[in-house]
Amino acid sequence: MAAHAASSGKVKKAILPVAGLGTRFLPATKAQPKEMLPIVDKPVIQYLVEEAVQSGIEEVIFVTGRGKRAIEDHFDHAMELEYILDSKGKTAVKEQLRHIAELAHFAYVRQKEARGDGDALLQARHLLNGESVAVLFGDDIIDNPRRPALRQLLDVYEKYQAPVIALTTVPRKDVHLYGVVKAKKVAPGTFQILDIVEKPDGKDAPSNQVIVGKFVLTPVVFEELSTIPYKPGSEIKLTGDALRQYIQHGGMVYGYTIEGTRYDCGSKIGFLKAVVDFGLKHPEVKKEFKKYLKSLSV
Ligand code: UTP
Repeated sequence: MAAHAASSGKVKKAILPVAGLGTRFLPATKAQPKEMLPIVDKPVIQYLVEEAVQSGIEEVIFVTGRGKRAIEDHFDHAMELEYILDSKGKTAVKEQLRHIAELAHFAYVRQKEARGDGDALLQARHLLNGESVAVLFGDDIIDNPRRPALRQLLDVYEKYQAPVIALTTVPRKDVHLYGVVKAKKVAPGTFQILDIVEKPDGKDAPSNQVIVGKFVLTPVVFEELSTIPYKPGSEIKLTGDALRQYIQHGGMVYGYTIEGTRYDCGSKIGFLKAVVDFGLKHPEVKKEFKKYLKSLSV
């Protein structure tokens, strides 16, 4: 079964590591997960689960940590609330809530200490049975109604059967905020990754192509991850440690320039841009919101 799943080339599971501390969003994230911050009326994490499901994923594995219970409750039935909505005749909203819990099969594992995104992924390794897996970090929303970002990556994975990283380009002045790749073009939008440099100065960066928090990983990446020692005070990183080491060991890793509008909802400005753009498209509020924005003298 495991061997068949690994060789069939179709990825059915996604890991969403959500055990980070969300320090860039304090104090909002002191007592609630940053992944539950709403873009208009839908939490960021639901956009990511919907992206995964629309890309063909059937099982979503959350790696949670302290203070993340709200995420589990969000993807569960809410019996009392549903009963009350029913009794008030608000059936449509009730059905909308039930649908969230039925988007996929959900599994939860816990990262006991925030030792980095790579360490978080290792906590879910035993649920993979040697299969390749999609990984979505909890804050990058890419808006593409025609072809979800993860579907774009899975298409590259299905062609090369190797790990795939989502890429985007940013102005040189911003590269110091990202993992930056040195890459060779192999097909339209598709690159072979030759090296990864974490948060370089603009002048030292090999390019302005940077890593977005979406990946397809093969079992060998988890083997690399498991060899990286944890040093107190630092973190085990998927890109800067494991993928980089895998490339240095001769492994092939691909990158794909994601098509769509990217919002880094883990940063204040990215989150605000998402709220404005999605607000302008939301059927219930778009008209009045547009009118309000036009009235501002900014
Ligand atoms: P980030 O680098 O965005 O870190 O993590 P963060 O803690 O969420 O946010 P800031 O930077 O402190 O504001 C990338 C992804 O890895 C997860 C995060 O939840 C996010 O989805 N992560 C990070 C873990 O699950 N565990 C960790 O120990 C670190």
